[in-house]
Amino acid sequence: MDWGMKNRLSRIIKPRTGRTVMLAVDHGYFLGPTTGLEEPAKTIKPLIEYADSIMLTRGVLRRCVLPENDTPVVLRVSGGTSILGNLADEGTTVSMKDALRLNVSAVALSIFVGSELERQTLLGLAGLVDEAEEYGVPVLAVTAVGKDMNRDARYLGLASRIAAELGAHFVKTYYCEDFHRVVRACPVPIVIAGGKKIPERDALELTYRAVNEGAVGVDMGRNIFQSENPVAMIRAVREIVHNNATVDQAYELYRTLSEEAKQKTA
Ligand code: R5P
Repeated sequence: MDWGMKNRLSRIIKPRTGRTVMLAVDHGYFLGPTTGLEEPAKTIKPLIEYADSIMLTRGVLRRCVLPENDTPVVLRVSGGTSILGNLADEGTTVSMKDALRLNVSAVALSIFVGSELERQTLLGLAGLVDEAEEYGVPVLAVTAVGKDMNRDARYLGLASRIAAELGAHFVKTYYCEDFHRVVRACPVPIVIAGGKKIPERDALELTYRAVNEGAVGVDMGRNIFQSENPVAMIRAVREIVHNNATVDQAYELYRTLSEEAKQKTA
């Protein structure tokens, strides 16, 4: 692997632990002002210092994050569709030149394996990898899941493996039963999405299971920024990912930090 590529990747997946806590706030690219992200700058500001990288679009990056910020950026470069249309019909939305101008540490795009547009999205991934290799920029492939698709190890293993075969440098997928099989069959690092908001303890359990079955970390959004206390939540997630905390230890930290925050504002 080229020096620049390795260097960028190690800004995201921290060499000290071999793991990462990515903060996903890119949802607006197809969902618009989703709950918790109505004002992205306000959501991002208190959280960014606890994230190993932040995943977002160039519009939000330019408008809502100060350029002095030194948290690595994973830039979403696919889109062009909305929740009202056919989500799988995505294309590339950002040139490599602009991604480099923004000094990003990686670019991300979604693939829709099993949809009628899988070929388009997979060739999109292959084309992006070609371009990104030229400049030493890692590509994160996101295995998007349609409403009618099973989030099981067979499907997620298929999608993750295809992403790696096409040259993705790391893959974002979902946790599932027998997740270790997905990890084993994917020759590049895997991070998990958090998915829909669930109770904090359950999201910590999900994190714990994923990293203990081989994920290098999380690229989590709603379970952090829709939490009752987002800062406490990201810090609890970090305890599991980087310090091997148990679910009980991480949840205890979440509760303590939340309590302290409540007392400060009382
Ligand atoms: C979806 O394609 C986006 O990349 C989201 O950022 C992703 O699903 C992660 O966010 P969440 O943890 O909310 O699922």
